[in-house]
Amino acid sequence: MRTTVGIIGAGPAGLLLARLLHNAGIDSVVLESRDRAYVERRQRAGILEQGTVDVLRGAGAGERMDRKGLRHDGIELRFDRRRHRVDFPALTGGRSVMVYAQTEVCKDLIALQLEEGGPLLFETEALAVEGADTDRPRVRFRREGAEDVLECDYVVGCDGFWGVARSAVPDGRTFERTYPFSWLGILADVAPSHDELVYARHDRGFALLSMRSPSVSRLYLQVPADTDADSWSDEEIWDELERRFETDDDWSLRRGPITQKSVTPMRSYVHEPMRHGHLFLAGDAAHIVPPTGAKGLNLAVGDVVTFARALAHRTATGSDELLDAYSATCLRRVWQAERFSYDMTTLLHTAPDVTPFEDRLQLARLDRITSSRAAETDLAEAYTGFPIG
Ligand code: FAD
Ligand code: DHB
Repeated sequence: MRTTVGIIGAGPAGLLLARLLHNAGIDSVVLESRDRAYVERRQRAGILEQGTVDVLRGAGAGERMDRKGLRHDGIELRFDRRRHRVDFPALTGGRSVMVYAQTEVCKDLIALQLEEGGPLLFETEALAVEGADTDRPRVRFRREGAEDVLECDYVVGCDGFWGVARSAVPDGRTFERTYPFSWLGILADVAPSHDELVYARHDRGFALLSMRSPSVSRLYLQVPADTDADSWSDEEIWDELERRFETDDDWSLRRGPITQKSVTPMRSYVHEPMRHGHLFLAGDAAHIVPPTGAKGLNLAVGDVVTFARALAHRTATGSDELLDAYSATCLRRVWQAERFSYDMTTLLHTAPDVTPFEDRLQLARLDRITSSRAAETDLAEAYTGFPIG
């Protein structure tokens, strides 16, 4: 099999890249190790930055998002039993975010790709990228029990943190931090208890109230790093959420049947460079952020937009200039997201070995954000998103 761009992975990065290339008249083949149902059901991100929303609309993938997504103009920070709203449009000149689940973004992009795009092969596992430093890189893959090869001009590894593409970038450097806590995430069939997201800092640990629709809540609790999701009963989860969200006013948490429970580890990770010859890394294959800043999916979108623009530029002009700048262009935005995600994580979580001094500093940082327009604007700008490219 032969194509211009071989894409490994059909998460948001790989699917959007295939769509952007299709729109630019460049052919691609997507290889995905899992089946379609798995990709469409994997419960992960929920917040799309303004720039991501614009990209999806521009790619012709925004129709259902505009009907079903929920535009959010702010978030609430909760600490010391107090509530503080951060008003995004007022602080950023009109920017907002969209609550629209990653599962839905993937469903929309899969449907478009199958209708209009090039091959999207599920249950097809990439085994290795070969000849990355030549102008004919190849992806060796296994499908229906047999091995085959995809010959390409370029390969883009969109295969997530556990994929194979990164190992074909030699002499890379990695930067990493693992946090001593995880998130226990639940989906519940109950209307959200607040109309915007609530990020709560509490001595017992962080809690986040989010949503998937007007009738489905998504909530997270900070838990110790090695927690087994099944060790928490539904009642224990609701009791703990209630404690951490408690306020001095009459706000209350609505409970409902929990339909899904899982634990996510918290990690910061960057692999540099994001390119070797004709192999490019995009999304979680190159970098991970802890989820507190809601940046992972949005970074993946930035990477593939940057690659698609660079390749379209090469096709139009014959110049490699933008492809050569790919890694540096992406990494600048990646490190801003790493910084913000680290700041949000350390601002709101209670580390098991926290000292009384650090505890007071955390409250002082929250006090600063909630009393200084400059500090609050910094948060609002980062949350609604850094420019792409
Ligand atoms: P992935 O989604 O991991 O996709 C990679 C794909 O490659 C997968 O489908 C995988 O099956 C496939 N693959 C792997 N290996 C191979 C192989 N060898 N051959 C073929 N295919 C392969 N981000 C946000 O922006 N906002 C949020 O609110 C947010 N919340 C989150 C909450 C949680 C609980 C978690 C876990 C993550 C959250 N994220 C959030 C992060 C976000 O989900 C990821 O950053 C995003 O999925 C990255 O997309 P990707 O396409 O790069 O990788
Ligand atoms: C969601 C996840 C996040 O990490 C976040 O910061 C906000 C919302 C969510 O899954 O809805």
